Amino acid sequence: MQPKRIAVIGAGLMGHGIAQAFAGAGLAVSIHDADPARRAGVPGRIRESLEQLGADPAAADRVTPADTLAAAVADADVVIEAVPEDLELKKRVFAEIEAAARPSALLASNTSVIPITQIMAGLAHRRRAMGTHWWNPPHQIPLVEVVQAEGTGDAEIEAMMALLAGIGKKPVHVRRDVPGFIGNRLQHAMWREAIALVQAGVCDAATVDEVVKESFGRRLSVLGPLENADLVGTDLTLMVHRYVLHDLDRTPGPLPLLEDLVAAGRLGMKTGGGFRDWTEAEAQAVRTRLADHLCRFDVHDT
Ligand SMILES: NC(=O)c1ccc[n+]([C@@H]2O[C@H](COP(=O)([O-])OP(=O)(O)OC[C@H]3O[C@@H](n4cnc5c(N)ncnc54)[C@H](O)[C@@H]3O)[C@@H](O)[C@H]2O)c1
Repeated sequence: MQPKRIAVIGAGLMGHGIAQAFAGAGLAVSIHDADPARRAGVPGRIRESLEQLGADPAAADRVTPADTLAAAVADADVVIEAVPEDLELKKRVFAEIEAAARPSALLASNTSVIPITQIMAGLAHRRRAMGTHWWNPPHQIPLVEVVQAEGTGDAEIEAMMALLAGIGKKPVHVRRDVPGFIGNRLQHAMWREAIALVQAGVCDAATVDEVVKESFGRRLSVLGPLENADLVGTDLTLMVHRYVLHDLDRTPGPLPLLEDLVAAGRLGMKTGGGFRDWTEAEAQAVRTRLADHLCRFDVHDT
């Protein structure tokens, strides 16, 4: 049966965007947040976003705030959790969801890095429990990683993949529940080397960003890294690996430069500086640049 009713638990940055993605594709969404003001504001927030994107704002009417978690999930075919990244909180929320949802409902966590198997450990019925890792902003970024945890059924994974493809997303099947799934592992492998280059004095942070944006960053959305390896040849890739891999950073934990920045309160744009210094105007310019870039992709293609 094709799922028609979606419930989203947590109406923050990710939850409201996930609700927008489903509502924009014509599905009914009920959404609950522990904060009454936040849940009440969701339809207005989505309407504003749809207007900014030039999409039909009427989709916001398909999103209904629910006063309780139980009311939000009672009739849902699919429940997606997007509460803060805290294992104990997520386990409590899934215990409540399991008690109130229909036995056939698919249950998914939007955690960024916590293993799904740990989040779902207390559930009585694990076949329907999985990860759906959306990317911010979820109504604009196509990819959703569908994570098969210990006990997740194949048919349930297929049903989730079909649902997401049906609303225009690009779901991928993550066959093992590894920390960071696929996308965040790749992203953080690059971040570690980027930080290591600055820490070693090879270049400053602005130069790292310029190198990426003005070189392979230009190709990345049309040429994946392994397509690129095949394009240049696996023999060339092997030769380069023989020269360079031994010198890449392999520190097992966070690098001291990052630890020092956080200890010094340099938390990035929100505190005026992180790896680089940021005025509020510069930080806003970065946000606008990103939003404009994402808007160039057809919203109906996401
Ligand atoms: N922010 C990102 O870029 C991003 C990307 C991918 C995945 N994620 C993951 O998505 C999840 C949500 O992240 P976010 O950035 O939307 O967080 P957020 O802080 O913006 O939103 C979380 C919401 O959950 C609500 N909440 C807290 N406890 C609750 C409860 N018991 N019941 C219902 N609602 C509750 C909060 O009031 C808040 O509105 C996290 O697991 C995060 O790691 C975030």
